[in-house]
Order: sequence, then C-alpha cells, then structure tokens
Amino acid sequence: MRMVDIIAKKRDGKELTTEEIDFVVQGYTQGEIPDYQVSAWAMAVFFKDMTDKERADLTMSMVNSGETIDLSAIEGVKVDKHSTGGVGDTTTLVLAPLVAALDVPVAKMSGRGLGHTGGTTDKLESVAGFHVELEKEEFIRLVNEHKVAVIGQSGNLTPADKKLYALRDVTATVNSIPLIASSIMSKKIAAGADAIVLDVKTGAGAFMKTTEDAKELAHAMVSIGNNVGRKTMAVISDMSQPLGLAIGNALEVKEAILTLQGKGPKDLEELCLALGRQMVFLAGKADSLEQAEEKLKEVIRNGKALEKFKHFLANQGGDASVVDHPERLPQAQYLIEVPADRDGYVAGIVADEIGTAAMLLGAGRATKESEIDLAVGLMLNKKVGDSVKAGESLVTIHANREDVDAVIAKIKENITIADHADAPVLVHDIVTE
Ligand code: URA
Ligand code: CA
Repeated sequence: MRMVDIIAKKRDGKELTTEEIDFVVQGYTQGEIPDYQVSAWAMAVFFKDMTDKERADLTMSMVNSGETIDLSAIEGVKVDKHSTGGVGDTTTLVLAPLVAALDVPVAKMSGRGLGHTGGTTDKLESVAGFHVELEKEEFIRLVNEHKVAVIGQSGNLTPADKKLYALRDVTATVNSIPLIASSIMSKKIAAGADAIVLDVKTGAGAFMKTTEDAKELAHAMVSIGNNVGRKTMAVISDMSQPLGLAIGNALEVKEAILTLQGKGPKDLEELCLALGRQMVFLAGKADSLEQAEEKLKEVIRNGKALEKFKHFLANQGGDASVVDHPERLPQAQYLIEVPADRDGYVAGIVADEIGTAAMLLGAGRATKESEIDLAVGLMLNKKVGDSVKAGESLVTIHANREDVDAVIAKIKENITIADHADAPVLVHDIVTE
C-alpha cells in the first residue's frame, strides 16, 4: 500500500477500505508516514467527507493505536457522558451521583480544565482531601460497591488522535465533522464505555457555533457509536450563555449540591434530567426515557442522590461534611458586584468571554502549567431573559485580589441589556439514532 495512492483516492471522493484507513492511522502513529502526507489526506477528508463506514473504521483504528481501559470487571452497562465543552458546565458533578443513586455504574476518567472551560477533576479537588489518584483495582472496587468513582487520566490512550489533532490544529483541518466525531468517540471507547451519552453544545461558548452544525456533529457521533456496538444518544444544548449560575470550581461544587437537593438553577436541572434519563435508559435501569426521568426526580426528592454524593466524596478522601456545610468549601476574600447600567432585560451573556473573565480571576488555566485558585469565580445574578433595574447586580465576582477592573470591564462588555429579550431554548434537540 502506498500513502500517495490513498491520498489520491480520497481526493477523488472515493471510499477508503478498512485496511487503507488503518494503514494511515497506524503508519502515522508509528512515525512511518510523514506529516505532509497526512496533512494532505486530512485536507482531502475535509473536502470530500467520509462515509459512515469510513468514520467507524477511523474511530476503531484510533482506539487500536494505543492502550484501552478494560472495565469488564465492573458489573452492568458502563455509560459515559461526554460534553463537547462549555462554560460553568456543572452537569458531571450532578450526574455522577444522581445516576449512581439508580445503580447505573459511573466509572469516570476525568481531566483538568484548560482555557475557559473547567475540568471535573479541578472542581472536585475543591473538596478538601478529595483525590483522583486511585489504583485501578481500587477504582473498580469503588464502582462495584458504590457505583461511582472518578480516576485521573492515565495510560497511553488514542495516541493516533493526539498526533492527528495536533496536526489538524496547524493545517486548518480541525473543523471537519468526520474528524471531530471520530476523535471524540475514539477517546470515549478507549476509556471503556459500553454506552455513551453526548451533550453537544451550541452557541458562543461552544465548539459548534450554530445549532445546525451541532446537530450534524451529534448525528455523526451517534452513528459511529451505534455502528461500533456502543449504544449512543445525544442532547443538543444551548451554550450561548453559561450553564447555571456558578462559574468556578468551589462555586460549582456548591451549585451541584443545591441541584442534587432540587434547589439548583432551572437550566442546570433541566439539562441534567435530559442527559440523566438517557444514561439511566441506556444502562437498562428504566423501560423508557419518561420512566427514567421519573426515577431521577424520585432520588432527588428522597435524598438518595445527595447521600450518594457524600459517599462518593468520602470514598476518595474528601470531606463530605461540605455537602451539609458548603461554607466549608474554599471561600474567596472579596465579593464585588457588577451593576447594570440601565433598566431592561438581559439579552446576552457571551459564554466564552464570561468563561475567560473567570479564568482571569484564576478560576481556570491559561496554559497547562497555570495554578488555579479553587475559591474564585463568578456568580450570575441574572440570566438571559431576566428583567433588571439600573444599579442591580448582574454578576458577583468572587476574587482573592482587590484589583479586578479588567474582569469587570470584560463582564460589562459581554452582557447586553435590551428593551426586550426572551430566555433561550436550552435543549434544542435529542438525537437517538
Ligand atoms: N474535541 C476533540 O476531542 N476532538 C476534536 O477533533 C475536536 C474537539
Ligand atoms: Ca454552572
């Protein structure tokens, strides 16, 4: 097989065979095929697209390029939830204990945040003592006995994706549906998921800026999952404004606690139920999505979800008393209000820019090496569609320094007030096949 022939075949819009795709992926991972040929191939894919079969082949070839996590020692259907990334996205913190309370095994491998999106590991580490450095045996024991555990990223998973993604980044081939979909799905499958629930975000804070693009990506990923034997569903959700009210590590833990008590922000609760019911259904713990949702509401009402969160924190060394005493979470020194300068309705809260404002405070990492401050962040006092009076606080800044002028300026620039505005639709679509 020659790489130049494979490039030409894709350039001419023909379907590549399983063997040809594997030749590209393994050859590139092992350094036998140079960057310039894979760049040309990626650009051909960008313009000529891939068939469903090619997409499934590319995904599995990337899975097979490195190690995979074997979760077969865990009983039940392991359902993984994946979000394409957003600002103030507190869903994982809520969903892990929530679905575990219904005996859905949650065996989560989780990373740290970079840029304007926060990582679940960082958020959980704002609970004193909590850690994700678990031995694999301990991780599996915890999931079998308690249905939920989070382990830090380890192992050489999908090296082909790492290399290909870095190349795409510098060759203007990131924004290709087959390449994005196979990249995301390969990582989930390598991490051991039997079934996958996807939260595909759309809007300013998201990778996909339009709902149309988000839908196309969701369909692509659901199709790959189902074609490689992993039941997959997706929710398309709004990320034009941040999710919930809290943006920041400890602040989001507190928001998760409130949501598990049924007292959280309405949008966060709605999205958690939309994703959670798919997880419960795919795990075989309910006969229908409607029944799954009823069960989720029941464990919120009867306190079982909150109880599960306490055990989950304690099992991994965390101080579970924060659940009843959230004031024991790290607290920022200064609270600074950002007032509205006119009467009206909030018409826009640009998610990615507000995420960047939180990062400037120290809530997120500008580079992989940055230290983060778990206490700081933003609390939104208004969401899009809310009425506001001049002088009323739009946002409360939680800071550990007094000089936050640049943060205030960024927030003001990115919250618009108009004479009229409606709340955006949160769940745009549900993709099940
Ligand atoms: N996120 C990924 O993991 N892969 C892509 O290709 C794009 C976004
Ligand atoms: Ca939030």
